[in-house]
Amino acid sequence: MGDAVPLFFRKRKPQPKATDQDFWKDARNVPRGTGVPLPTGPKRARFDIPEDYDASDEYGEEFDVEEQSTPTLPRPKHPRVFVVANQKGGVGKTTTTVNVAMGLALGGLNVLVIDNDPQSNASTALGIEHPVGTPGTYETLVEGDPIMAHAQQSPHSPNLHVLPATIDLAAAEMELAVMQGREARLKHALEQYLEQSGADYVFIDCPPSLGMLTLNALVASTEILVPIQTEYYALEGVTALLGTIDRVKGNLNDRLELTNILLTMYDKRTNLSKDVAAEVRSHFKKQTLATEIPRSVRIAEAPSFGQTVLTYQPRSEGAVAYASVAEEIANQVETKE
Ligand SMILES: Nc1ncnc2c1ncn2[C@@H]1O[C@H](COP(=O)(O)OP(=O)(O)OP(=O)(O)O)[C@@H](O)[C@H]1O
Ligand SMILES: [Mg+2]
Repeated sequence: MGDAVPLFFRKRKPQPKATDQDFWKDARNVPRGTGVPLPTGPKRARFDIPEDYDASDEYGEEFDVEEQSTPTLPRPKHPRVFVVANQKGGVGKTTTTVNVAMGLALGGLNVLVIDNDPQSNASTALGIEHPVGTPGTYETLVEGDPIMAHAQQSPHSPNLHVLPATIDLAAAEMELAVMQGREARLKHALEQYLEQSGADYVFIDCPPSLGMLTLNALVASTEILVPIQTEYYALEGVTALLGTIDRVKGNLNDRLELTNILLTMYDKRTNLSKDVAAEVRSHFKKQTLATEIPRSVRIAEAPSFGQTVLTYQPRSEGAVAYASVAEEIANQVETKE
């Protein structure tokens, strides 16, 4: 028999224990929107890359910050203000806000994103530092500060500004409830900003609820962009949203129109996605955008690098889809003076 030890008696090599440090190494484990200082990599801006390194193979074409002064997309005659709303959670509101905004900014237009959600995911995805105490949407809504005072330029495009949010904004929901002119506070701040700034587009990212924050956004906007996830229950909640829109239109903001519906997380392999997409298109023939956003890992991982997918992986399917949505939206306008 010899000295051979039967396999199941052999001592196992001790496995190194996972430490907290290993946990944080995995980008998927990094929680978003918590005010944690953002990781800075991977570097996408050209000045961050060593001279002899050609990043285009790995990441796609670099976008050139200076070249963006000539717009490649049509400039609207009047600023367009979009509220991105759907009280159903996790349907792609924030992802749509940041990527469409970045698409328009890369097309040379001036864009403001208002992060109107205490989760502050839009601020994170646009690379805006927003530790607790950062002034932003809360100060504008509750204290009446001008947007111009707190809007920050995105590190990825000189044309894109962001009014950041922090968890403090959660308190605004209650504080606004007892204030004078509570529904129109964002509207007044935005009117002043549009006069001062020359912005072409404003996108307001909303929380998944129909409270005071969303109401302020609906009153401040002229157009609604509704992302709908191509999954079962997709239209759940849209009926409630339509009811709210009607009430706001009748009372507080006559100019509000549901102009765009975007199908998100589309999985072309499943019949479910196809069926839901067809149903949404038949209900909202005019409003549904032709481009569908595919379900994509690149889209989901971009925010953990403080980026939109357009700057993080510009050649990926998701980036191309969002760029084409930005183009579709931009082409809806008349541009002649
Ligand atoms: N096309 C996509 N493919 C894959 N993952 C996606 C896609 N769009 C969004 N996601 C992921 O799905 C999750 C929800 O998306 P997102 O945060 O944009 O939704 P939301 O409607 O803003 O959510 P909330 O209601 O909480 O504000 C996120 O983790 C996001 O990265
Ligand atoms: Mg969101």
